[in-house]
Amino acid sequence: MDNRPIGVFDSGLGGITAVRELMRVMPTQPIIYFGDTGRVPYGGRSRETIVRYTRQDIRFLLTFDLKLIVAACGTMSANALDIVANEVDIPIVGVVESSVRRAIEETKNGRIGVIGTTATIKSGAYERLISALAPDAQVFSAACPLFVPLVENGRYSAGDVAVEAIASDYLKPLAQRDIDTLILGCTHYPLLRDVISGVMGPCVKLVDAGEACAVNAASLLRREDMLCDENSRGGCRFFVSDDPGNFSSIASVFLGCSVSDEIEQVDISSY
Ligand code: DGL
Repeated sequence: MDNRPIGVFDSGLGGITAVRELMRVMPTQPIIYFGDTGRVPYGGRSRETIVRYTRQDIRFLLTFDLKLIVAACGTMSANALDIVANEVDIPIVGVVESSVRRAIEETKNGRIGVIGTTATIKSGAYERLISALAPDAQVFSAACPLFVPLVENGRYSAGDVAVEAIASDYLKPLAQRDIDTLILGCTHYPLLRDVISGVMGPCVKLVDAGEACAVNAASLLRREDMLCDENSRGGCRFFVSDDPGNFSSIASVFLGCSVSDEIEQVDISSY
């Protein structure tokens, strides 16, 4: 048993897709969330900058006594975790391995799509791991750079003209590749699930990177006998690096409860 909190972080709102699943599978587990809303999006930045931001995000989280960190961000998982995870003495679970393993389990025809930010797709991290774990699989990937800014601005609903047009432009070429499984390789993308599914069609199974890494984190804690006891209070404290207003309204809708009282602002540049 270990009642210490889990730290979860992302460049912005996307990591709430992991938080929702963590709360579902481990309701008594306390969570500390950091979203770098002052510097989002990370996905158009250089690897060097992404590594620097990741170090700062983790340094902030480590001001708490944590038992595990979840890097609920495809961009940081793909570009920085190989370097930064070795600098920290608690386990860090990222999204790449979790979602690749899920996609390999799900695919029937061995044709897997991956979408993510520009930095994620450029890193080739998903493709490399799929080829290593399933050498016969074929991978088709596409960067969707405008998805994160749209979600951060609350533009993610099916029927929103701008989102529908951009999704169709990014995804139509993938929809013609006969893939049966699509990894949403950025944790913001599950908020666009209905829009993405509308373009890809009902036969394409969507793998939610946020959900997959949450399930992976829970199994690691179970294996290591580090789950919380059932009397622990759970709950999530949120920290952001810019005005909490926008984060608060979207996170409250997505998580199905008001989080406005649990959000604090931090100056991430000082970490
Ligand atoms: N949620 C982040 C990811 O999974 C978004 C990255 C960004 O800020 O561009 O990649």
